[in-house]
Amino acid sequence: MTNNIDMSAAMKIHLGEIFDDLPEKPEFVKGIRRAPARHFALTQKETELALKNALRYIPEKWHQTLAPEFMEELLSRGRIYGYRFRPPGPITGRPIDQYKGNCIEGRAFQVMIDNNLDFDVALYPYELVTYGETGQVCQNWMQYWLIKRYLEELTRDQTLVMASGHPLGLFASSEHAPRVIITNALMVGCFDDQNNWHRAMALGVANYGQMTAGGWMYIGPQGIVHGTYNTLLNAGRAKLGIPADKDLAGYLFVSSGLGGMSGAQGKAVEIANGVAIIAEVDYSRIKTRLEQGWIKKAVENPAEAFKLALEHQQKKKSIAIAFYGNVVDLIEYAVNNHINIDLLTDQTSCHAVYEGGYCPQGISFDERTELLKSGHSGFKEMIDTTLRRHYELIKTLADRGTYFFDYGNSFLKAVYDAGVSEICKNGKDPLEGFIFQSYVEDLMGPLLFDYGYGPFRWVCLSGNEDDLFRTDKAAMECIDPGRRFQDRDNYAWLKDAAKNKLVVGTKARILYQDALGRVAIALKFNEMVRNGDIGPVMLGRDHHDTGGTDSPFRETANIKDGSNIMADMATHCFAGNAARGMSLVALHNGGGVGIGNAINGGFGLVLDGSERIDAVIKQAIPWDVMGGVARRAWARNENSIETSIKYNEMRQGSDHITLPFIANDEMVEDIVGKAFKKVKSKG
Ligand SMILES: NC(=O)c1ccc[n+]([C@@H]2O[C@H](COP(=O)([O-])OP(=O)(O)OC[C@H]3O[C@@H](n4cnc5c(N)ncnc54)[C@H](O)[C@@H]3O)[C@@H](O)[C@H]2O)c1
Repeated sequence: MTNNIDMSAAMKIHLGEIFDDLPEKPEFVKGIRRAPARHFALTQKETELALKNALRYIPEKWHQTLAPEFMEELLSRGRIYGYRFRPPGPITGRPIDQYKGNCIEGRAFQVMIDNNLDFDVALYPYELVTYGETGQVCQNWMQYWLIKRYLEELTRDQTLVMASGHPLGLFASSEHAPRVIITNALMVGCFDDQNNWHRAMALGVANYGQMTAGGWMYIGPQGIVHGTYNTLLNAGRAKLGIPADKDLAGYLFVSSGLGGMSGAQGKAVEIANGVAIIAEVDYSRIKTRLEQGWIKKAVENPAEAFKLALEHQQKKKSIAIAFYGNVVDLIEYAVNNHINIDLLTDQTSCHAVYEGGYCPQGISFDERTELLKSGHSGFKEMIDTTLRRHYELIKTLADRGTYFFDYGNSFLKAVYDAGVSEICKNGKDPLEGFIFQSYVEDLMGPLLFDYGYGPFRWVCLSGNEDDLFRTDKAAMECIDPGRRFQDRDNYAWLKDAAKNKLVVGTKARILYQDALGRVAIALKFNEMVRNGDIGPVMLGRDHHDTGGTDSPFRETANIKDGSNIMADMATHCFAGNAARGMSLVALHNGGGVGIGNAINGGFGLVLDGSERIDAVIKQAIPWDVMGGVARRAWARNENSIETSIKYNEMRQGSDHITLPFIANDEMVEDIVGKAFKKVKSKG
């Protein structure tokens, strides 16, 4: 039987090698947001298992000290985070040359991880939560240290394998293989549900990566400002009759949430020149956005919020207002006082509705935190009651002409789960969708994803602001604003990006682009790295995109051939990106919509200036996007068919997309109608 001495001798990388002595317990910096205690529901036997699981990272000499400490964390926080191993003070994504490593990729990923845990960037940095209430970089601080050590060791002949935050180890591969392969919370089908996921998280065997948290590609709320700007502009054009070359001047947008992603809403509306009121129950988040300048004013009563908004609407001046309170109180006031809201959505964390993502009406944020800690029974009913009320109010506003859309947070699904089956199109289940459209069904899907436009992004790893400005300029030269209205919007976005001061954390930029637009920009950047004009660059995207995400309540909500419940596309995208040599590939369960509701993948590509990377760009980036366009074309999405026809022409001899023959609707209805009549008449 092996013992712990043999174990330690057999490993070059382990915590006993990283730390000579057990680190001191860290002081928690005051004012830094902390994750609510997650409900503890393990049995005695399972708790023993959780403890043994966490102690797997710990050399035996420290077990006696850490076992009671971990036990206390599990009981009081619902998880073992291993706080003692959190490095003291702030963590920041530093310039790449300040990191150790045997290859540029190993150092680049350390920049990205540290950026995801920055106090200014992360939602609950002590609990390794980057955004979206539950989206973590990894499960605990022991993993953090091991991952970083592995990344320091990693060579161009190895791949680091990450299983739900756990670094499984380094395995031999080749220069052309990914340096890191990540999966998060991929659960076996019959266990793929909330209860088993909670149990697995508490046991320390699952990590919820959301999208870019567990894929180490988060760049702060800027990532979503651009998407929100696109969504709201297009909502205005499609639903309010605003012409393609005009903006949201004079229009009112109402929503909730000033957290990780939702915090972008105010800024996006201001850039689009509109007026926003955003409800938020947690004052600390309002404060962050006020300090950042992304919210201009905070008010505590709905009357004041709507008055201020109206003044600005009348003058056609933009403003982002935070309402400190529950969104249901805010829109209840609008209903009772017949206030006209043009665009309405919700950005609370409904993907984790019972885990703290959605605050019930009638209690404060602190009271909800207490209730979360003490147990779920009454709390769940309060949430369900609020969701039902929320829905009724939205219905009234929609009847009066407000355009309401689900903003990718699983709000409609949460209302359905709260017992409202009339929210489903078929009146019983979500299989045919909901009575309100999601923003992907109505806007992002047909207008952006179906063409291949998606959230391409880059991080200047030198940490040098001039590099960012140089890349902005170079990317602008690659866009023809006269080609389509999407290109005009993206060009305008980039032109003002520096002025809009969007950077939080590393020097990063997001820019919606289609497949070949992304390729052109990537090749240009790699050439600039090669010529020494800029330092190395990390390319990536979030998962809110054309090809990487199967998510029937969001990214693939406008896939109507029945395949919206399949996860083939995301899996192919992940495998295809690995085969084509992306530096990092990631696949997660849950995305922004919650466990079991999506499978989503991401990538990272480090531009080192080499010709090898030129080849990866030319093969992997078109695949990453066009796999998604091809699938959308096969689902008979018109804009994807058009895009694929052009692609087949342009890429003759290299790529070839299968296109659908379109059946005549009347012919099909006639044949099916007759057949059903026959079946019925036979009884
Ligand atoms: N639209 C998109 O493109 C997109 C992208 C990523 C994520 N999301 C989804 O959007 C949601 C929000 O993401 P996030 O990162 O901002 O999450 P977050 O948890 O950081 O922020 C949500 C905010 O809502 C507030 N809140 C909760 N209940 C409230 C209530 N009843 N009234 C007012 N405020 C309330 C919370 O205090 C919190 O600050 C998530 O479900 C996420 O998955 C959407």
